[in-house]
Amino acid sequence: MSARPTRILTGITTSGTPHLGNYAGAIRPALASAQSKDVENFYFLADFHSLVKCGDPARVQRSTLEIAATWLACGLDPAKVWFYRQSDIPEIPELMWFLTCVAGKGLLNRAHAYKAAVDKNRMDGEDDDAGITGGLYMYPVLMAADILIFNADKVPVGRDQVQHIEMARDFAQRFNHLYGSGRAEPYFVLPEAVIEESVATLPGLDGRKMSKSYDNTIPLFTPPAELKKLIMGIVTDSRLPGEAKDTDGSALFQLYQAFSSAEETEAMREAYAAGIGWGDAKQKLFERVDAEIAPMREKYEALIARPADIEDILRDGASRLGARYAMPALATLRDAVGLRDLSTAAIKAAPERREKRAMPMFKQYRENDGKFYFKLMQGERELLVSRGFDSPREAGQQVALMKAGGADGDYTLGENVSMDEVAAALAEFRDDAQD
Ligand code: TRP
Repeated sequence: MSARPTRILTGITTSGTPHLGNYAGAIRPALASAQSKDVENFYFLADFHSLVKCGDPARVQRSTLEIAATWLACGLDPAKVWFYRQSDIPEIPELMWFLTCVAGKGLLNRAHAYKAAVDKNRMDGEDDDAGITGGLYMYPVLMAADILIFNADKVPVGRDQVQHIEMARDFAQRFNHLYGSGRAEPYFVLPEAVIEESVATLPGLDGRKMSKSYDNTIPLFTPPAELKKLIMGIVTDSRLPGEAKDTDGSALFQLYQAFSSAEETEAMREAYAAGIGWGDAKQKLFERVDAEIAPMREKYEALIARPADIEDILRDGASRLGARYAMPALATLRDAVGLRDLSTAAIKAAPERREKRAMPMFKQYRENDGKFYFKLMQGERELLVSRGFDSPREAGQQVALMKAGGADGDYTLGENVSMDEVAAALAEFRDDAQD
């Protein structure tokens, strides 16, 4: 489409110590993709996001340092990619407000993390919103600002984050539609989530997904003795040496695979079949992991001993990035929404009439073929036309179904209408229902 390189944006929340799961699932693939041609990479420390869950200032600071040092130790080159801290870009929270003002509250109500918190409250017999902060609720809007401010095209994420990218698209689309009609280029590119199928979600010590919330992680740069101890504690079944073992569902095997070549993995598969003892398999895993991590661990330790250097690197990244993209983007967006220099106002001219965005509406009608149809309209725009139904009742039922979020998909999109646009329009019906 456009000639500019594809922009890929990766953010990590600064609320913990990087572990092997972060490394294999996010850091390693992200840095590998930085090697490809025609991409512009953005890596940032989502420290504003960390405030949502973490109320411990020392921890936020420590985690920011550790994660920054981790990226650098793993090979990130700040001269080749954008490397910065979210809170050093003041345009991000400003854009968040603009997006907040187009974000459907009903859509935010449906965010997984918020819904899970409400469900938990209900289970506990509490008030729906007990203990839930506005920060948790607005989390997806802040995340959308991170992405949209740089018009990132691709955002590599885990499955749990896909909904956030869909929301970012929704806010972008609403903003483009409200402020950008008649403009050659929309204000925002619609970002795409990239889920790397080949990238492992690593199991943790107890076999569940490796995650800080399960307290089952292996810290990436833990000293070798501690690494070994943790690996020796990975859960296995009780089969004895000499008994054939299952690779399916074996956390140990999955971890081994994530740090090994195809041949090494194959050899381990055979060793499982041949009855390798768990202790031996764990020793092999330790050796593989340590071989990959050791050189980086050394760099990490050198980096972390010089926090002021890391601070300089982050500030330099943010200041260049701000001047290059964030500030110009916000100048355009402020103008778009009407936060303008008053001296440029035309004094006598009639106020610019911008149609407030029409609400989507279903219209039912009968065609010459005797069948009953409906279409979804938004102002003058025809978003979709249904197939023909034998009775108005059936057509009405289908309308109700679509409003509720289910549909048979048997309809024709209007000219130049995207599925996203239809989804955004349909979401408004559900917004109303839930508010
Ligand atoms: N929410 C992401 C996570 O918890 C971190 C994040 C914040 C992010 N802003 C982002 C990821 C923007 C990608 C793009 O993993």
